[in-house]
Amino acid sequence: MKTNNKTQETKPSNPKSKTAQKENTPFAESVVLKPVGYPFDFAMMENNLEIIDKTLFEEYAREQWLGLVVKENSYLFDQKIIPDYGFQIVSVSPNNSIIAENTEIKLLDIEERNLDTVKRIKTNVKISDIVGQENAKNKTKVLIKYLEEPDKFGEWAPKNILFYGFPGTGKTMLVKALANELDVPLYLIKATSLIGEHVGDSASKIQELFEKAQKTAPSIIFIDEIDAIALHRSFQSLRGDVAEIVNSLLTEMDGINDNKAVVTIGATNNPNSIDYAVRSRFEEEIEFVLPDDNERKSIFENNLKTFPLKYDLNIEKLVKISKNMSGRDIKEKILKTALHHAISHDKETVDNKDVEYALKASKIKNSEVKGMFE
Ligand SMILES: Nc1ncnc2c1ncn2[C@@H]1O[C@H](COP(=O)(O)OP(=O)(O)O)[C@@H](O)[C@H]1O
Ligand SMILES: [Mg+2]
Repeated sequence: MKTNNKTQETKPSNPKSKTAQKENTPFAESVVLKPVGYPFDFAMMENNLEIIDKTLFEEYAREQWLGLVVKENSYLFDQKIIPDYGFQIVSVSPNNSIIAENTEIKLLDIEERNLDTVKRIKTNVKISDIVGQENAKNKTKVLIKYLEEPDKFGEWAPKNILFYGFPGTGKTMLVKALANELDVPLYLIKATSLIGEHVGDSASKIQELFEKAQKTAPSIIFIDEIDAIALHRSFQSLRGDVAEIVNSLLTEMDGINDNKAVVTIGATNNPNSIDYAVRSRFEEEIEFVLPDDNERKSIFENNLKTFPLKYDLNIEKLVKISKNMSGRDIKEKILKTALHHAISHDKETVDNKDVEYALKASKIKNSEVKGMFE
């Protein structure tokens, strides 16, 4: 009787179920789905599908997907009521198994679906990888001490910090490094992911973000591009949905729900476009500045350490031509473009010609550039 499980009948009514005949593929015990909608947008139905009768849904689902091999993160398409509507497989146990007569199939509740818009980020960036920004690094020392020993701080705990300054200067990088070195969860919310949601959705996402952070404290919440959601009052009338976000942000930042051992870091390129009430909730605003000559030199050198090709470059010249550039510009606009240029020309060494190309391609206007490589 040891193969009992496998001999169970699996009506292979669906042509796709051919894969199910593969030997050794177990039958699924349970499958959890998330509605994701159509492969293309024609504004008729969104992914807010709700089940009226769970048992009926299970029957309906089993009937059309019986015999299919299912894997986590793959998709199933409805064949009946809403043809080609997609469902993503959130979990299946065991993974890579066959939908059978007794497989439990459920759809995530609406609240559960929203949870994964809050992203937990993991990286291996270190604080020492960040060149310069000493002011910001000093502040992060306090955050580290607090998140390590939150009880020590009591009412003197740091709560909300704003990082601002030129794009590409290391704001996101520092937050990631902080979470990584402390080994605490980092919850990142991008402004853009909140905009355009249904009324009430963005507020509940913010609430849920803080709740999740609290549950897993010590933790860090990172609200990137905060200007886009906490838009200045004078622009809020143009975007009604933003006022709601601003209000829920204020509630959470005030710590009405005691967010102990949770630090909120906001980042913006333009602090003046942030709603002043939200802005005033940040105890400290820390500026990120463009790297000076020495710092740019280090950024070049550090990045070249991981370069996949040999290089013949004059660092001093690179430092000169990169005046007013950010760390990101140096990496993406100069080094990466030069490297790709060399590779596409089957070169074994990246040289000044590739850098010259990169400068032209990025349309960097810098008087130093002209004649630099002659
Ligand atoms: N101070 C810095 N030191 C080293 N690398 C940097 C620095 N600033 C930016 N970079 C590089 O640029 C990339 C983008 O920086 P990021 O932190 O995302 O900028 P932003 O300030 O816009 O959040 C980083 O991943 C890193 O490779
Ligand atoms: Mg950033």
